[in-house]
Amino acid sequence: MAERGAATSELLVIFGITGDLARKMTFRALYRLERRNLLDCPILGVASDDISVEDLVDRAGEAIRKTGEPFDDAVFDRLAKRLSYLHGDVNDAALYDQIAQRTGTDRQCLYYLEMPPSLFAPIVENLGRAGLLTRARVAVEKPFGHDLTSARELNARLRAVLREEQILRVDHFLGKEPVADVEGLRFANTTLAELWDRRSIAEIHITMAENFGVEDRGSFYDSVGALRDVVQNHLLQVLALIAMEPPVGPGDDDLNDKKAEVFRAMPPADPAHCVRGRYRGYADVPGVADGSQTETFVALRLQIENWRWSGVPIFLRAGKALPQRVTEVRLFTHRVPALAFMPQRERAPRNQIVLRIDPDPGMRLQLVAQDDGVWRDVHLDSSFTHDLGEPIQPYERLLHAAMVGDRRLFAREDSIEETWRIVAPLLEHPGVVHTYEPGSWGPDAAQALVRGHRSWQDPWLPEGGPTQ
Ligand code: BG6
Repeated sequence: MAERGAATSELLVIFGITGDLARKMTFRALYRLERRNLLDCPILGVASDDISVEDLVDRAGEAIRKTGEPFDDAVFDRLAKRLSYLHGDVNDAALYDQIAQRTGTDRQCLYYLEMPPSLFAPIVENLGRAGLLTRARVAVEKPFGHDLTSARELNARLRAVLREEQILRVDHFLGKEPVADVEGLRFANTTLAELWDRRSIAEIHITMAENFGVEDRGSFYDSVGALRDVVQNHLLQVLALIAMEPPVGPGDDDLNDKKAEVFRAMPPADPAHCVRGRYRGYADVPGVADGSQTETFVALRLQIENWRWSGVPIFLRAGKALPQRVTEVRLFTHRVPALAFMPQRERAPRNQIVLRIDPDPGMRLQLVAQDDGVWRDVHLDSSFTHDLGEPIQPYERLLHAAMVGDRRLFAREDSIEETWRIVAPLLEHPGVVHTYEPGSWGPDAAQALVRGHRSWQDPWLPEGGPTQ
């Protein structure tokens, strides 16, 4: 929900509209918004390529078709009519004068920076100098810094020209189902809300597995690694939503306050409880530096020292070249006591609650039943696509939220700084990198990390087996 007074954008300006993200995500998101009649402003694309607006429209059409999105010419024509294009060098003040001539300086603009992070601050400073920020919002892609110091520096430069409520830090996991609405799921269901703490929950596992390697992103990825690429941002943002207290109201800061409280209650990660791995063959990926020690897999243990979660171990794992593409959150309950009336002496296994984020968002409740004197798992499953309809795509949701000024789906600065603080010891003392075979669940040491706890479970896959 937009905060009172947040105005809908009158113009969307996309820096980097000829780049990869636009091709893979943004055009499709805009097209889907157009189809749902949720787009009602012009779009100005800005990039360095010297192309015409007709070329841009062709590229947009091709990009949308390539995503497999059903293509409706009438919808696309409406979108195409909104597009205009300006090429130039983002470090050149003249570009901003041209933008100002096209847009005027008093429009409620959304500037979306799909640009390398090193350009975030220079672009925003240039927009400021040209007087373009008075009524604007600025959305920046991840990563926001590469450690706590650089995140603070970047923030200081942005805040020199923007108010916090003008900055939207994009983390596309916050636009996914069921992440985007998890507070509803958690707190509107007594069944879940009542068992969502240390009294009932013994452990939390979060898995983000990808069944492909680094492919053509070698030089980007090699300077980042799994911890910075997906844990500091995506997985910790998800964890905060899973662990937070209920927001006290509908405002943007009500939700972000609760997320920030979770992070503030988390001690820095302990390198002794972190395992890094790298799939065999990574060193040969083009762009990977000789002697690189970058990890493509990371598993770690975290804790939240607050009333709700104290003593509940939290295990996260993320990796490339694993057996499946699947992201899930899994909560294990405590075991029930031995029950004298049961024929078998063995205590019943734990229940598990699984929230699947990708692919096919859904929820599973894993219970036990007796089958001829033997405990058997039984599952209550909901595929949200099946039960609720096709989910809104993450970038579609986030672009719309950015345009209407709904900041709940964006990461606030304090959370970002806290997450860098939490992972800092792991960046400072990275430890050895174990080799694992592509198609395995990472190095053996990742199993050792959970020794004495719940072992890593095979993720819950959509019916019909693994999907993309
Ligand atoms: C990105 C990472 O932020 O998220 C990629 O840079 C990763 O390495 C991607 O593959 C995963 O996103 P999704 O939406 O495909 O699960």
